[in-house]
Amino acid sequence: MNIAINTNNISKSYPGVLANSNVSIQIDESSIHAIVGENGAGKSTLMKILYGMTKPDSGSIEIFNEIVTMSSPKDSITLGIGMVHQHFMLAKNLTVLENIILGIDRPSLKNLGLKKYKKAIEEVMSNYSLDIDLNMYVEDLSVGEKQRVEIIKVLFRGAKILILDEPTAVLVPQEVDELFNNLKNLRENGVTIIFISHKLDEVLEIADQISVMRSGQLIDSVRNMNVSKIELAEMMIGKSLPSPPPRSTEKKQNKIIELKNVSSNNVDGRQLFKNISFSLYGSEILGIAGVEGNGQKEVVESIIGIEKLESGEIFFNGEKINDKTTRERLDSGISFIPEDRQLQAMIMDMNLTNNVIIGRQNIKKYKSNFATVKTKNAVKESENIISLFDVKTPGTNTLATALSGGNQQKFVVGRELEDDPSLLIASQPTRGIDIGAQALIWEKLRESRDNGLGVLLISADLEELIGLSDRIVVFYQGSLVTELSSEEVSPEDLGGYMTGLKK
Ligand SMILES: Nc1ncnc2c1ncn2[C@@H]1O[C@H](COP(=O)(O)OP(=O)(O)OP(=O)(O)O)[C@@H](O)[C@H]1O
Ligand SMILES: [Mg+2]
Repeated sequence: MNIAINTNNISKSYPGVLANSNVSIQIDESSIHAIVGENGAGKSTLMKILYGMTKPDSGSIEIFNEIVTMSSPKDSITLGIGMVHQHFMLAKNLTVLENIILGIDRPSLKNLGLKKYKKAIEEVMSNYSLDIDLNMYVEDLSVGEKQRVEIIKVLFRGAKILILDEPTAVLVPQEVDELFNNLKNLRENGVTIIFISHKLDEVLEIADQISVMRSGQLIDSVRNMNVSKIELAEMMIGKSLPSPPPRSTEKKQNKIIELKNVSSNNVDGRQLFKNISFSLYGSEILGIAGVEGNGQKEVVESIIGIEKLESGEIFFNGEKINDKTTRERLDSGISFIPEDRQLQAMIMDMNLTNNVIIGRQNIKKYKSNFATVKTKNAVKESENIISLFDVKTPGTNTLATALSGGNQQKFVVGRELEDDPSLLIASQPTRGIDIGAQALIWEKLRESRDNGLGVLLISADLEELIGLSDRIVVFYQGSLVTELSSEEVSPEDLGGYMTGLKK
């Protein structure tokens, strides 16, 4: 078998952190190679080095047995390496075809004219058995389809090596199956795939070879058939996994939040959601299921006033809050973990202490009589979050951008659970989080729930949704289609309601 990639003793350090330490990984051509490891283990750093986004301090990279130097992604694309980012980089208001050719600068593919481009792209799609309607607008595509466009985009640029950093975090089970089928086809056709995921079941389903990283080092590369899930987890965290605590049965009778027939349209008059009614009680986790774009995100955002209502009423702790501002709602005891931590939850160029204060300048703990804030309290608070949530960082003065994705997420969750809210809206709270940290966050959410907190949980991870929620409501095309008891529903059933196959 040929070797597609060899990294020889790659090291990379950041202030206070050795992100990669003498990493030597060998990746076979036409194989699917998974990389697993805890948050902050160094997976993304290694991928950024392979993609030419980051320079290693030492070590070398061989691509198809030749030592290469890369100073930007442009170089890696020329070498046949493509990366599909977790945040899709597509223009919504353009068609699939336009998106694929956008920004192309390979001389052989420049200025071909639309017709020729279309033909060339169709050829690539048929070579790799990938299918999509090139004339669709990207805004009308599902998440899985957008991801497929990203994959076609890099293949069209000649990629023979594909890097996918946590590609399944945003997909529902049906879409994961489809992605895996596509990846298997790509492998059959000679493409080498590097796949990062925190979901070990998936890794064991799809990967030929699995490399485990811990604290910047490669622990081992093993063949899939020689390893079990438990062994993998133990290699990752160096000890065995905690088991989840039992579900509490005691539900309070106070309604934390009540929605009565709420409806909303978007700016061009399209219905976002209609006649939605549900209640959330104290000491309850209510799961909200739906494929992205079915209105559930907007409904939840209407609770904090980001989304405007056409009609209907919202009550928080018995009081109607329709006319309150977002600030007033948040200050009155609603916490919010937004789906996109980097866009909505943190200011990436600020340190952790300041990320505790943003939006909270006016609460007593931080407000001072002068035109400043009580920084000392915020430092204490962020130290607290770092220790309770096991955030891996040199300290409170570190910029948010210097944390690994999962550690940013842990910090945000920790911050939102402080200050004893009565309602927590948690959107994808463990996205990108390793299994150890996920267990920790689940435990904290359950603990807060048992202490009276009401949680609205939105998650694309159906195992999480079922495992954590007491009840689940499902959204489809802007309507609430069913309410299920989480004890009786399987991920497949849930996926069926979410995609409209089950009614
Ligand atoms: N630009 C940066 N500046 C400073 N430190 C960084 C930077 N990028 C990464 N790090 C640090 O390097 C270490 C490895 O981070 P990396 O993003 O590679 O982890 P990861 O394995 O991808 O984790 P996750 O599963 O959370 O995405 C972390 O401790 C992180 O804080
Ligand atoms: Mg990462």
